[in-house]
Amino acid sequence: MKILQSISQTQQYCKMQKQMGKVIGLVPTMGYLHEGHISLVEAAVKQCDVVIASIFVNPIQFGIGEDFEVYPRDAKRDQDLLTEAGVDLLFMPSTEEMYPDNYNCYIELEGDLPNILCGLSRPGHFKGVTTVVGKLFNICQPDFAFFGQKDAQQVTIIEKMVRDLNFPVKIVRLPIIREADGLAMSSRNVYLDPEMRKQALILKKSLDEVVESIKAGVLDADFLKVELKKLIAKSPEARIDYVSICDAEELSEINDEIKGKVLIALAVKFGSTRLIDNCLVEV
Ligand code: PAJ
Repeated sequence: MKILQSISQTQQYCKMQKQMGKVIGLVPTMGYLHEGHISLVEAAVKQCDVVIASIFVNPIQFGIGEDFEVYPRDAKRDQDLLTEAGVDLLFMPSTEEMYPDNYNCYIELEGDLPNILCGLSRPGHFKGVTTVVGKLFNICQPDFAFFGQKDAQQVTIIEKMVRDLNFPVKIVRLPIIREADGLAMSSRNVYLDPEMRKQALILKKSLDEVVESIKAGVLDADFLKVELKKLIAKSPEARIDYVSICDAEELSEINDEIKGKVLIALAVKFGSTRLIDNCLVEV
């Protein structure tokens, strides 16, 4: 696997691949990889001739007081995992390479989408995400880019950016990969001590119970949200940021009877660790 830190060298590599008619797949990550990330790489390897993974802990998507400085990093282990998974090029730029002095250009979606759900408690977060992903698209010129449903709002926002700004890339959205006990894999799970780790299982359990209620015919979204909150509150350390039942495509909140494809999404803090999870259900 080739490793590059330089934008211009990466651009040159991608240009050459394009000239040879190769289909390029991109998997953007912030590193500290787990099986969720690797599932994206595996899909890319299946679908594309050349697979690029990026590792960049993007400072502008972290708010003040968030975990940018302590975000877990393990470059050696990540490199081994990506080599094994069949990645052709790992792009891992420095912060200065991506945001040199006087950097001044940002991509920002207007409207509700970046300001609801995770955007409410993380103002500016999605502006940081769209900016860095837009830059990665310009650097790597991918035909396909792979994102996880784990960050449902993120991939919805990126799809909108791609449509609105006509990026010539197809977004591939892949399912959430979980630990054997149901916890959604996340680089941030390492922050959880054993007790919190145990309590965090309430997230998937609660989502499952609500899905069961829906399947049994309970369709009042407001009622279901109250139930979901009560279920999560069974874990004494859980502090709910939000629970949402929303339209799976627009992410617009549903307050009355649910119908069609809906997303049940939540963000919950255990100590200082904020976890997100979600599931899709069709009525
Ligand atoms: P990161 O959190 O490293 O995630 C990289 C990709 O892996 C995202 O598309 C995310 O949805 C996906 N992913 C994470 N956990 C997953 C899981 N359990 N199952 C399936 N996919 C999972 O998301 C980011 O980085 C950044 O915001 C980024 C897009 C790289 C921009 O900086």
